[in-house]
Parts: sequence; C-alpha cells; structure tokens
Amino acid sequence: MDYWLRPQVNPGIANVFAAAAFRFAHVTVQPVVTRLGPGYQPSPRHPPLPLHHSLFASWRVIREGGVDPVLRGLLLSPAKLQVSDQMMVEELTERLFQAQGGLPFDLGALNLQRGRDHGLPGYSVWRRLCGLSDPVSESDLAGIMGNPTLAQKLLALYSTPQNIDVWVGAISEPPLPGGRVGPLLACLLAKQFRALRDGDRFWWQRKGMFSRAQRSSLQRVSLSRVICDNTHIQLVPPDPFTRTLCTEDLLPCTHPRIPPLDLSAWREPDSDPTCGSVPRIQPGYSLLCDSAVLYQCPAGFSLVGPSQVKCDPHTQQWTSAPPTCQDVDECASSPSVCPQNTECHNTPGSFTCTEPDVASFSASSVAAAVVAVLGGVAVMLLIMVCYRRFFPMKSDHLQSRCCQRPS
Ligand code: HEM
Repeated sequence: MDYWLRPQVNPGIANVFAAAAFRFAHVTVQPVVTRLGPGYQPSPRHPPLPLHHSLFASWRVIREGGVDPVLRGLLLSPAKLQVSDQMMVEELTERLFQAQGGLPFDLGALNLQRGRDHGLPGYSVWRRLCGLSDPVSESDLAGIMGNPTLAQKLLALYSTPQNIDVWVGAISEPPLPGGRVGPLLACLLAKQFRALRDGDRFWWQRKGMFSRAQRSSLQRVSLSRVICDNTHIQLVPPDPFTRTLCTEDLLPCTHPRIPPLDLSAWREPDSDPTCGSVPRIQPGYSLLCDSAVLYQCPAGFSLVGPSQVKCDPHTQQWTSAPPTCQDVDECASSPSVCPQNTECHNTPGSFTCTEPDVASFSASSVAAAVVAVLGGVAVMLLIMVCYRRFFPMKSDHLQSRCCQRPS
C-alpha cells in the first residue's frame, strides 16, 4: 500500500501524548525484571531483580550476562495487566529511584504533576476531541469506566469529570475488546502515530522512497530478526508483540518465519539498457541513476575528471571516460597535518606521522660528537705547547741557570 505525504499534517509530538497519553505504559510495567538463561530457563546466575534494583544499574548488564538474559525475560513475560485496584506497581509508586539514595519518587504523582504543569485540559475535553461521550454525572462516568466504585472515588477526589487529570481518566477506562487500552487512549495514541506517518516526508511506505521490491523486503523484517542479528539469542517468538506462553512456541533464528533482511533489491544493475556495461572506478563509488553514473571517491582521494557520465541515447555511448580517484598527498598541505617534530608519510588514502628515526639521529650525532671531542683535545694540546714555549716555567729558568757552567 502506498502512502502519500499530507503536508498539512504536523508530525510533531503532541503535548498530551508526551505528558499523559503515552505514559499509559507505566501501568504495564512489572515489578520484577525477569532474566532468563540461553534455554529461557531461570538461572541462578541472574535471578529475578526487583525493578528498583535495576534502575541506573547499568553495571549489571556488564557483569551479569549482558542484555540477552533481560531480553529473553521480556520476550517471555507478559506485561502487567491493568486492574482498577492496582493501576501501577509499588516499585514505581513507592520505590522509584530509591536505590539512588534520597526520598523515593512516585511515578503516578510525577505523571499527574507533569500534565498539570504542561497545562493539559481535563479528561472531558479530550473525550470530546475524540468524538467520545462527555460524562457529566456519576452514572455517566460509572458507565464509561464500567466500574461504579471507581467512578465514585474519582468524583470524591475531583468533584466533576471535567477536572479529572487526563492521564488518570485515560488509564481508568477498561480496554477495548482485543485491545490493551480504553477508547480515549486508543484515540490519542492513534492520532499521534497517524500524524507521525502522514506528516513524515521520509516515511518508508511513501511512494518514491523505496522500490516495491525494497519495500517488501523491509516489510518482512521483524523485531525478532533484529534481536537475532544483534544478540546471542538463538530462539525467538515469531511475533514478540504478542504474548508467548511457553518455550515450545519459540523458533530458531534460522526458521523461515524469521527471514533475514534481503538486500538484493538494493543491488545496482551492472549495465544500462542503452549504453551497456556501467563504467566503474577503483577505488571509488559509482551509482547508476536514470542513465547517468554518478561518481565519488573515498576519503583521502580526489576525483579527477567528470563527477558524472551520461548515456547518450543517440550514440549509445557514455558521454566521456569515467573519472579516476587520485591519492591526495596530505603531507604536502600547509599547515602540516602532523604534530610538530614528527615526520609525515603519505599512504594511499591517508598518511602517518612518525617520530624522527632515532637510529640515524644517533649515528650522525655520535660522529659529530667524536669530531668535536678530538678537535677540542687538539686545541688544548696546542695551547699547552704554546704556553710552555712562550712562558717557560720557574723550574725551567732555575734548571737552565744551575746548569750553566762557571766560565
Ligand atoms: C521501568 C519502566 C519505566 C520507568 C521507571 C519510567 C519512568 C519514567 C520517568 C521517571 C519519567 C519522567 C516523569 C516526569 O518527571 O514527568 C517518565 C516519562 C515518560 N515515560 Fe516512562 N518509565 C518507564 C517505562 C515507560 C514505558 C514502557 C513507556 C512507553 C512505552 C514510557 C513512556 C514515558 C513517556 C512518554 C514519558 C514522558 C517523556 C517526556 O516527555 O520527556 N515509560 N518515565
């Protein structure tokens, strides 16, 4: 099925969606994080974890078997059933972030407060927006909630249905047949997701985004396949969004019902119907697009020649020879690409910076040092010889005098 962009649709997230409606899922959260071993069996290595011990405890993922045990637990355990005498588990209303120190939070209270500081209108306004009945009396409300006691409690707190916080009103409605949420939430969630689709110019099912073959290839990919491809999990449910009752219902990742992403629909044809074989370049990338071949070079190479060649339908020839990708000499660029006191060496597509060669440095410097020392010694000897010659020592005078024979 093709979808067309509806430019008048705003795909942004509605205030009521973020501050209330999509928080409905808080009532589906279980109080324990179930972790299961490779055969989906409970394992003493990773026992079930009270929810508040799992929050901000990412170290457990590293030390306690990675994400696989948690994902297996999520795949096999049902979501919490919403019941009117316990909307949300105490792990969220009494112990939220308790393990992080300080006073625990109450997620229900946060949701209500957030709705108020976002200025969300009350329950009745949203019912009207969705074309649903507008409860006025207690009996109207009891009819909608399917629960007179709950209606009575709500009115004792809020006096009138108009004042009921939309999050509370919405999660209090009983689920629609076959559904997980009541009519108000079904409407608010559907409005948001429809807007996300219809107002998105890159929506994958929009005509022109992908070819028919590519779309059907994408259509076949499932969350189970994503789990198979990105974890060590080897058994998955055919549909992870519905409840899996027992391990016998799991399928191996190789099962035909969990097909891998088939990328052959993205493979480029190697020839054009008119001009024949597509001139490719190496190294480099080329893309055949409406009888034109577009070229690009990898990093470290520059394109020499035309960035595209076209197929001329008259001559049935490509308009020119393809370009080439020439290596860029990064070492010739100024300022230097290497840090000071290092030598730059150009390599195909890149360069390296190395410390100057220590061996050759020492050979030349040793030779220079030897020459300097020998020169220094020679100069010293010369000075001493000259000194003795022009300034003879006292003993030399005495000796020469003593040695004179009396005439
Ligand atoms: C263990 C499970 C979860 C915990 C502990 C949790 C906790 C929280 C907290 C603390 C907030 C911020 C509350 C505030 O100050 O306003 C929040 C917001 C929210 N949560 Fe959850 N949540 C959980 C699961 C979920 C799930 C499963 C969904 C929906 C599928 C969900 C949807 C949202 C949304 C839409 C917001 C508002 C986000 C925003 O506008 O910034 N949460 N949650």
